[in-house]
Amino acid sequence: MSNPPVIHSFHHATSGTWTHVVADPASGRAAIIDPVLDFDVASGRVGTQPANELLARIGELGLLVVAILETHAHADHLSAGAWLRDSLGVPLAIGAGIIEVQRTFKRLLALGDHFAADGRAFDRLLRDGDVIPLGTLGIRVIATPGHTPDSVAYLVGDALFVGDTIFAPAAGTARCDFPDGSASTLYRSIRRLYELPDATRVFLCHDYPAEGASPTAQTSIGEEKAANIQLRGDTREDDYVLVRERRDATLAAPRLLWPAIQFNIRGGRLPPADTLGRRHFRLPVFLDAG
Ligand SMILES: [Fe+2]
Repeated sequence: MSNPPVIHSFHHATSGTWTHVVADPASGRAAIIDPVLDFDVASGRVGTQPANELLARIGELGLLVVAILETHAHADHLSAGAWLRDSLGVPLAIGAGIIEVQRTFKRLLALGDHFAADGRAFDRLLRDGDVIPLGTLGIRVIATPGHTPDSVAYLVGDALFVGDTIFAPAAGTARCDFPDGSASTLYRSIRRLYELPDATRVFLCHDYPAEGASPTAQTSIGEEKAANIQLRGDTREDDYVLVRERRDATLAAPRLLWPAIQFNIRGGRLPPADTLGRRHFRLPVFLDAG
């Protein structure tokens, strides 16, 4: 049997995001999951410092990166996917549901004919059951729609990378109020994850610790089933959907929703330049005449 994968986790404090590097100890091959860039919305500046630091650490560890994986098109931070893809010359992959996400936001943002909503911004579109080789290990793709249609989890040996599907037990589960989100679909996705052995290590995409506390990167299927405040091992679908939808009705839009989505559905690239070479994100606005 192969050795368990080794995981190196990197926390991006401004967005509360975890980037994970999963490595096969036998071959030194590794995949990067959910890398981030900095973004200052007031100045419009996108910064590569988190990705540079990630590459430096990967170099120190002597790992050979073979793939960059997104768990979904994030709505709260800008992805370093394309930037790292181009820096390292390795493929960038995401769930095949990205096409639905691209179509939806192309329509909502009137992105026009130049925006190809066909997944071509990514090198590989992943489907449930796909396996990506990682040295002596394999990365198994588990489709986990509900938060977004493109959400996937990655299972490598006993390590599961859940994206936003579930958070630490005290924080519950992902919101389901984005376009094409569904609480009952997410319930069924999480149920599939809960069929994995209790000892399965769960690596989170986000944690937002209380002031002074350190963020949590890792839980387990057993801990989630025993204590997740929204969806335990014995929670019924109707009860979950009620709690989730009530909670979603109280949530504000993520601060970086519109820029993050426009960048991330392009694989982590800026929109095309205007005639003067400038690039812009669109911001839908609504007049509350109340
Ligand atoms: Fe998300």
